[in-house]
Amino acid sequence: MKPPRKLSVEIKAFTTAAALTSTLLASAVTSHASPAATVYPSAIAPLYQTAAGPAQIASLTPGTPLSVATPPANGAAREEITIEGWSEQGGGAVVYQAPDLRIILATLGQAGLSHRTVLGQQRDSYGTVWRHVELSGWVAVSSVVPSVATVWATAGKLFATRCSVCHALRNPAEFTANQWPSILRAMVKNAGLDAAQVALVTKYLQAHARAQ
Ligand code: HEC
Repeated sequence: MKPPRKLSVEIKAFTTAAALTSTLLASAVTSHASPAATVYPSAIAPLYQTAAGPAQIASLTPGTPLSVATPPANGAAREEITIEGWSEQGGGAVVYQAPDLRIILATLGQAGLSHRTVLGQQRDSYGTVWRHVELSGWVAVSSVVPSVATVWATAGKLFATRCSVCHALRNPAEFTANQWPSILRAMVKNAGLDAAQVALVTKYLQAHARAQ
């Protein structure tokens, strides 16, 4: 991710909060209008092979950043996107956010495995080889939102209501992104969450977790 270097320089130049807010808004509008727009699934979403056919190549998790390859035509049901992440060599069906960062972005089906492009690879400190992979496909326009904050707002409400029944609500920053999934496996039975809700709360907690 590119550091917002330019913005911090601009912030120093401003003396009023109002001026700063309008600059932030202007830059948000600009980045959204740029051709490399990013959209996010609001729930688990299928990644299709084509613009209209039923063949699925992957399942995308909520909040995964998807780069829009071609903006959808007016009224189109699907848009073409690209997703980028890391898979372990050998166990390549799961695409994670980064080597050793077990935030699942997508799970590939058999067709997905043959559709991905390997951009490079690196070995982590445990000797595991991670492949940097890219995958393109089509998502339903209705399954994605332009701001990840929308996804986290829904997830945060679910977390706040369902995870405070037996004990005080825990701080997501209490654990790392790699620790949350196993803690949640024990808790979701308690909280009576279904698979879709588990995926949403898991991604929310990992996105707001303590640094590794
Ligand atoms: C039905 C009651 C219940 C619900 C609902 C519940 N928990 Fe818990 N939780 C417990 C109990 C009991 C413990 C302490 C014993 C244990 O660790 O199993 C606990 C412990 C925890 C811990 C501490 C674990 C550790 O290793 O220190 C975390 C974090 C946690 N819960 C998160 C959650 C989250 C997130 C949710 C919502 C998905 C949730 N809990 C929903 C009963 C519940």
